[in-house]
Amino acid sequence: MKSFFFSALTCLLLSGMHAPLAAQIKNNEAGGAASVKQGKQKQFSPGKPWYDTEGNLINAHGNGIIYSGKKYYWFGEKRGKHGSEGVNVYSSADLYNWKFEGLALAQSEDTESDITNGCLMERPKVIYNKSTGKYVMWFHLELKGKGYAAARAGVAVSDRVTGPYKFINSFRPNGNMSRDMNLFVDDDGAAYHIYSSDENMDLRVARLSDDFLSSTTKDTILFRRQREAPALFRYNNKYYLITSGCTGWAPNRASLHVSSNIFGPWELVGDPLKGEGAAKTYGGQSTYVLPVQGKKNAFIFLADIWTPDNLKESRYIWLPVQLKDEGAEISWMDNWDLGWFSARN
Ligand code: DGJ
Repeated sequence: MKSFFFSALTCLLLSGMHAPLAAQIKNNEAGGAASVKQGKQKQFSPGKPWYDTEGNLINAHGNGIIYSGKKYYWFGEKRGKHGSEGVNVYSSADLYNWKFEGLALAQSEDTESDITNGCLMERPKVIYNKSTGKYVMWFHLELKGKGYAAARAGVAVSDRVTGPYKFINSFRPNGNMSRDMNLFVDDDGAAYHIYSSDENMDLRVARLSDDFLSSTTKDTILFRRQREAPALFRYNNKYYLITSGCTGWAPNRASLHVSSNIFGPWELVGDPLKGEGAAKTYGGQSTYVLPVQGKKNAFIFLADIWTPDNLKESRYIWLPVQLKDEGAEISWMDNWDLGWFSARN
């Protein structure tokens, strides 16, 4: 029964997926070539199972990454038997090999808490506040038993990057619904919350308070185009924003907007993904754009290939962003490494 269900689900998913990727996933299911399970990994293999240094599948979806003390920390949704199970964190010095550091934010045993067991935590992001010395996590929170109706932002804080994070509160920024989200820290130290609002019709940005724990009223609509999964980065005094459409867990076409001011106006450039499978983001959905430390103009596009009936095993797409004068391009590669940037910059 289970295997019939899983095969049916796989068919459904593969039908909307990038063809080479679909073939690859079938191949992996049949016991074919997969990424390294143990031992050192030396490259990225988008769409293939990605194991941590203990040989377990990395379980950190809708992720965001922070660089701290010469290491990257990957935060993402822990998914399991009970659905959403908090926020996991992994660390890496080279971006290929990730060590499981534990559950950074747990759900609460307290039935009165906004994050009581059974709530839904999505798209966690962590930033560091230099003036308070605290790591601050924001995430999309849905209250237990209410589907996606609550549409709140949750905030948690820790003195250590790996946590454990202490939940502070949850709210609708300035009264606005808040679902898919991201955080961005600008060169001047100001931080921003980018979020899907008004039943995902609007994408908004709010400047955070100086301690990063709340939204200020400097909060505006970026555009009303029914977009979600925002991933914002800055290059050469311009802001780049990749988003997805709103089709639940199913992949759709990505788009890129560019602006010289984070509050807009934002100009639609079009789909940054190129080639076969681009129309459906190679089967994935954006989650973050990662600046590579120590390399100039090097950014990696991060996306999730969701498997809704087994979210824990949803896979990851990491691909380099090729910067252009008036935009950016992303192309599929079965395997690649950071040398890709050195060859271009
Ligand atoms: C699309 C969002 O981007 C995901 O984070 C998740 O909320 C799904 N919708 C749920 O259908």
